[in-house]
Amino acid sequence: MEEMRLQKYLAHCGVASRRAAEQMIRDGRVSVNGKPVTEMGIKVKPGDAVTVDGTPAEPEKRKYYILLNKPAGVLSSVKDDRGRECVVDLIKGIDARLYPVGRLDYDTTGLLLLTNDGDFMQKVTHPSFEIWKTYRAVVKGVPDESDVKKFAEGVFLDDGKTLPAVLDVTGYQGNNAIAEVCIREGRNRQVRRMLEKIGHPVIRLMRIGFGSLELGDMKEGQWRHVSPEEIRKLTEER
Ligand code: URA
Repeated sequence: MEEMRLQKYLAHCGVASRRAAEQMIRDGRVSVNGKPVTEMGIKVKPGDAVTVDGTPAEPEKRKYYILLNKPAGVLSSVKDDRGRECVVDLIKGIDARLYPVGRLDYDTTGLLLLTNDGDFMQKVTHPSFEIWKTYRAVVKGVPDESDVKKFAEGVFLDDGKTLPAVLDVTGYQGNNAIAEVCIREGRNRQVRRMLEKIGHPVIRLMRIGFGSLELGDMKEGQWRHVSPEEIRKLTEER
């Protein structure tokens, strides 16, 4: 929350309209840090304790769930020491501290969730959650039936064998293939490493699905709110 005038703060907290809040202040019902305030226009800053008739007035703790089409060249983090653009910089006008749910590589595009709901975050990023994540990859060469079988059995990587995964060639680009890959884990660079291991390194990678959520035709950099119904469906499915 930025610094704001007391009457605006009270309205922001849902206590009253701005005009009604002004009347509350005039009537001596509002205190800031224990001191009654009757003058108009004083500013409150984060950390100030505001009460109305002795009851704390706090901003509504709305939970946000945002679905972003992450562009390439943007970090899946909140802040970068080297000043590179981060996914939270792309979400404007939300008065909450958002965190990305898991991560996509710097060069990967597509579906990334952001939220301020710590319980939701913990649930969906826990290894036991094993929700299906779907990627569209352009890969070098064309995987064949034996590659599809390797994915179905799990691929041996440096950090151990993966869970069974799905590889499906859906199209071609010259000598290369377009493939859909579904995995249920979230290891670091997992899709890239699995495809590299079977001899078809990734040229481009985009996440198009996260459980029941789909990227659809959103453009890179666009975002939308995810409805409570969509969130309920996501957390109940497996
Ligand atoms: N797997 C990868 O290799 N990269 C991603 O960004 C996501 C999954």
